[in-house]
Amino acid sequence: MDIFEVIRDRRSIRKYKDTPVEWAKIEQVLDAARLAPSWKNMQCWRFLVLTGMEEREALLAAFPDDNPGKRAIASAPVVIVVCADPADSGVENGIDYFVADTAIAFEHLCLAAHALGLGSCWMGLYDEAVVSRALGIPAGVRVVGITPLGYPDQEPKARPRKDLAEIAYFNEWGCAQC
Ligand SMILES: Cc1cc2nc3c(=O)[nH]c(=O)nc-3n(C[C@H](O)[C@H](O)[C@H](O)COP(=O)(O)O)c2cc1C
Repeated sequence: MDIFEVIRDRRSIRKYKDTPVEWAKIEQVLDAARLAPSWKNMQCWRFLVLTGMEEREALLAAFPDDNPGKRAIASAPVVIVVCADPADSGVENGIDYFVADTAIAFEHLCLAAHALGLGSCWMGLYDEAVVSRALGIPAGVRVVGITPLGYPDQEPKARPRKDLAEIAYFNEWGCAQC
């Protein structure tokens, strides 16, 4: 699979097989995240990998029932809580770069997972305070996203994206023609 195939074919996966994920693959996706670029190369991201089911009970309480991914958090063989220490990043033009740093690493992780035949789904709809309390995440460390990880038990169709002409301009704002 080349990088363009990986980008094109990745999907948010919300249904997983029971098949355990090999430790080498978990390490490989974390390593892909580790290699992401970041603000002054400060690497503010932290990853909490959950492989047991006990921690899930408390974690689940953080997810509203109408979150379409909630069931995956309960059932996937692995859950990765993607965190950031904002003290290891910066703010410029009012933009908190810990979010950008961690989002890049998170997407590296999701793309690497897909390349290895694994599914993931970035989830952002949860109560952060409940997550932090449930998992003992230190004060000041932010939970930027959470993903289940495992072998997909579904093949979702591609969700629509805006055409390039709607989002890319050439030489002048709003000018979609080259
Ligand atoms: C920042 C962010 C937060 C998201 N939060 C959730 C979520 O809480 N629950 C969920 O099921 N999916 C969540 N998603 C997944 C999106 O719904 C999904 O990426 C989008 O519908 C496009 O589908 P695709 O990832 O299969 O291309 C989130 C994605 C992003 C990037």
